[in-house]
Amino acid sequence: MNRIEGRVKVTGLATYAAEFPVKGVTYAYAVQSRIAKGRIARVDGGAALAMPGVLAVLSCEEPPEVAEDAGPELALFQSREVAYRGQIVAAVVADTYEDARAAAAVVRVEYEPGDHDVTLRADHPGLYKPEVVNPNYPTDTEKGDVEAGLAEAVTSVDVTYTTPVEHNNPMEPHAALALWDEEGRLLVYDTAQGTSGSRDTIAKTLGLPSERVRVVSRHVGGGFGAKGSTRPQAVLAALAARAVGRPVKIALTRQQMFDVTGYRTPTIQRLRLGADERGRLTAVDHVAYEQSSTLVEFAEQTTTPTRVMYATPALRTAHRLVRLDVATPSWMRAPGECPGMYALESAMDELAYAAGIDPVELRVLNDADTEPETGLPFSSRNLVACLREGARRFGWEHRESAPGRIREGDWMGGTGVAASTYPARRSPCQAVATVRDGDFLIRVAAADIGTGARTVLTRIAAGTLGVAPERVHVELGDSDLPYAPVAGGSMGTASWGSAVVRACEELRKDGKEGRADTTEEIKGDARLARHAFGAQFAEVRVNSVTGEIRVTRLLGVFAAGHIMDAKLARSQFIGGMTMGLGMALMEETFTDEEFGGFLRRDLAQYHIPACADVPDIEVAWVDEQDDDLNPMGSKGIGEIGIVGTAAAIGNAVHHATGHRIRDLPITPGKIL
Ligand code: MOS
Repeated sequence: MNRIEGRVKVTGLATYAAEFPVKGVTYAYAVQSRIAKGRIARVDGGAALAMPGVLAVLSCEEPPEVAEDAGPELALFQSREVAYRGQIVAAVVADTYEDARAAAAVVRVEYEPGDHDVTLRADHPGLYKPEVVNPNYPTDTEKGDVEAGLAEAVTSVDVTYTTPVEHNNPMEPHAALALWDEEGRLLVYDTAQGTSGSRDTIAKTLGLPSERVRVVSRHVGGGFGAKGSTRPQAVLAALAARAVGRPVKIALTRQQMFDVTGYRTPTIQRLRLGADERGRLTAVDHVAYEQSSTLVEFAEQTTTPTRVMYATPALRTAHRLVRLDVATPSWMRAPGECPGMYALESAMDELAYAAGIDPVELRVLNDADTEPETGLPFSSRNLVACLREGARRFGWEHRESAPGRIREGDWMGGTGVAASTYPARRSPCQAVATVRDGDFLIRVAAADIGTGARTVLTRIAAGTLGVAPERVHVELGDSDLPYAPVAGGSMGTASWGSAVVRACEELRKDGKEGRADTTEEIKGDARLARHAFGAQFAEVRVNSVTGEIRVTRLLGVFAAGHIMDAKLARSQFIGGMTMGLGMALMEETFTDEEFGGFLRRDLAQYHIPACADVPDIEVAWVDEQDDDLNPMGSKGIGEIGIVGTAAAIGNAVHHATGHRIRDLPITPGKIL
């Protein structure tokens, strides 16, 4: 199927959060902290208020009312303490965007600065063990005797990898438009990966019952996690609109997004692997060091994929966190799994070379029959099929195994492989299916963030009802619709689709209306280990004079349940792999150690792949028949594409050059 909203998007008719036409709209612009730590002594909005068109200055001098239990990142203007550079400390509301922006520049904020610490180190004295890691996994796990396993190993590696701060850069910057009606009900047009959750968060932050808030996100121009939790623009728009008694619009600049919409935590990861004379693992030890802010404990689940990947008698995984004077990290496509698998799959490649075993064969040899950490059976696991199919398509059997052998003039060539994995979850969801004018209306507060959710839900409903897709209309992107979980964790389609199938089944029985709530159905999901798997293959050329790295081929083969729509799935996989290419070679936000906050806060300096950087990516899948997952037999596909790509490219760079770069991104300076 073609995208249902494809035409309105490419013709510019699709309405994004900042674009809803509203009479009497005003504009807010944020003032951000210039220090990384300290106290606000005074905010002087006098000069700003005297500027043309200015309606209000919001700050801690007269804090707007929010709920006492509002989360600290969203409790705007409630505290005089500064937690990070770039934090929103004031805002100007004016008749036009330009007036608001000009006035924001003359708001005077006087600080009493303190000493900041913004640098993650593996020996940081503030490191501690969080209670759990996201979303609710044990922080550490241990099975068998890791030290004994390493001691008896014939081959072992002990390697440390680092990954930098990275930022999501969806095409649509964050924006919000807030209106209060005469009854005191709040409507927010927001850029959200889920309207039900955002509605609840905004209501909780403002101390309102959920029924008094409505969030609408009809179209969202990408999210990747940056719009998965409610960001400050939504709350600021609501507070500003209440303060001036008129609708307020906020459109964050790209630079502001780097400060206040989250980022991927940097990581330092130590991997110790041991193998016997045949290459079977005797021990796996994976420790990750990562950061959070002083405001919120965000503990990313970096080593959790290591708990599901390979069979080994001894397995230890751990996370250590330090609270720094930085913004709170948040979700970025495959948070945890992506950086974690970069380290594990790079280390597996190092082990393969140390043991003299082909990297594909090493992975096949150590495939697991049951989930290594829990011993639970897998609902389905086809990692080996992905590796074999990928090797066949890629022409792996002709590969010269020794590194540094392929050369054409100044260009060295190499190939690499890595595995990928991502959990296949679903979350409780409601949906209503009704007959309308002889057609069918499906109502669910799902979010289409560019993935094609409308399209695939239409297909799912049409399939269940046994009618043509043209007769099905899906309404989503509005918290007044039946409750739905976020488009995140690669579980959107599985969650919403389960509810849509059940609602359509009910409609078939009833003839007029079907209502579904999957809360009970989902309780049975925990008895099996549910994960998607994949294999990534990369070919690179590295210039021995300039250090330039070109990815010339990428192939991903995935086992992700039943693929419901080939076109949408392929787009998701290549999108993820492209983002993985960026992670491997380009993406990096520097922390400003002297002043706090981030350097490279725009797309001129924060590089993401452009078309010329991306080869013709080949995607294939092993279609799985897995009836235990959900009514569609599907696993999520939004995130697994990024998992493993950076390792495959890094492994190919090693194969080309003979050098291991253990610090992402792999830039020309590190090659030379
Ligand atoms: Mo994604 S990082 O689960 O929004």
